Amino acid sequence: MTHVQSLVAQINESLAQVHIHFEGCSKTKIYEQEIKDAHTYPLVAGGKRIRPLFTLLMAGALGGEKALTTASKSAIAVEMLHTYTLVHDDLPCMDNDDFRRGRATTHKVYGDAKALLVGDGLLALSFLQLTQTNWQQGRNYTAELVEILATAASPSGVIWGQWLDLSLTGKEDTDWDLMEIVHTFKTGVLIAASLEMGLICGLSLQKKQYEIQVIKNFREKIKKAGIYIGLAFQIIDDILDTTKTSVELGKTAGKDENQNKFTAIRILGKQRAQELSSQYTHLAIALIKELFAEFQAAEFNNENNFYAKNLIEQIENLLARPN
Ligand code: IPE
Ligand code: IPE
Ligand code: MG
Ligand code: MG
Ligand code: MG
Repeated sequence: MTHVQSLVAQINESLAQVHIHFEGCSKTKIYEQEIKDAHTYPLVAGGKRIRPLFTLLMAGALGGEKALTTASKSAIAVEMLHTYTLVHDDLPCMDNDDFRRGRATTHKVYGDAKALLVGDGLLALSFLQLTQTNWQQGRNYTAELVEILATAASPSGVIWGQWLDLSLTGKEDTDWDLMEIVHTFKTGVLIAASLEMGLICGLSLQKKQYEIQVIKNFREKIKKAGIYIGLAFQIIDDILDTTKTSVELGKTAGKDENQNKFTAIRILGKQRAQELSSQYTHLAIALIKELFAEFQAAEFNNENNFYAKNLIEQIENLLARPN
């Protein structure tokens, strides 16, 4: 097992142990089991776990092995939040999908109303995770983590992207500039948040205490890189929708075309879409290398370099991912 595979295994293990506290009575017991199962169902179904992995690898690159412990709650938080967006994205009133992460969608199993609640529940649980972060030294950055994740999840973030996605479905007068905005918000900002949270957790373990403004500049840079990764990621998602089978994807293939969705493939064609996703990936990697170079002389040792290298490898691998 590679180190990255073992990190994914740890992420999966934590996601399978969602803790929900109940107050009820003997007559609510069966619902306690149901609500717990329903919240666990979409989380443990699989998924690439790319966002939590980015959080952990970025933390490791800046703070070494110890920073992975600090970042573990953020990693779970971002995956919970992402999973909530998928549960809602699949609802009949949105993309109306029956199949996700290789199984029936949450609303197919628990009904639309309870799937709506599961999404809401995962959203709240993700912020609860952040409050449980174990800061091992120096100051407490929980407020920064909450700000990062809440901004990404807000109507200035993912909700804006999903809003535009719905509004533009079936529209003819669309172009790549508009598409870039949709992809940036529906996908880019959450990937950016995963890296930004990793950065904060990593920095919290460095010997040097940075001025708030310096941290803001690092955050700006990593956010920009995350958005480039998100753009590349969503372009590939659009391509895969047209080139793979449902079994390969673990979600319904050909869905975008069927639903008359506004996608990178439709606007750019496959070849141009592929070229653009590589360009964005290279831009992202260049920015991340620039950021790492700022630390390399002073703070980087073999441990940091190991995580930095793995992070860049993971970003590159997304271009040729199978699903
Ligand atoms: C799917 O995300 C939704 C998009 C933003 C494209 P992923 O492709 O990361 O889905 P999982 O987490 O692996 O299921
Ligand atoms: C989903 O985009 C983006 C979010 C859930 C925020 P898509 O609708 O393209 O994702 P899939 O293809 O259903 O996974
Ligand atoms: Mg959608
Ligand atoms: Mg969808
Ligand atoms: Mg898609």
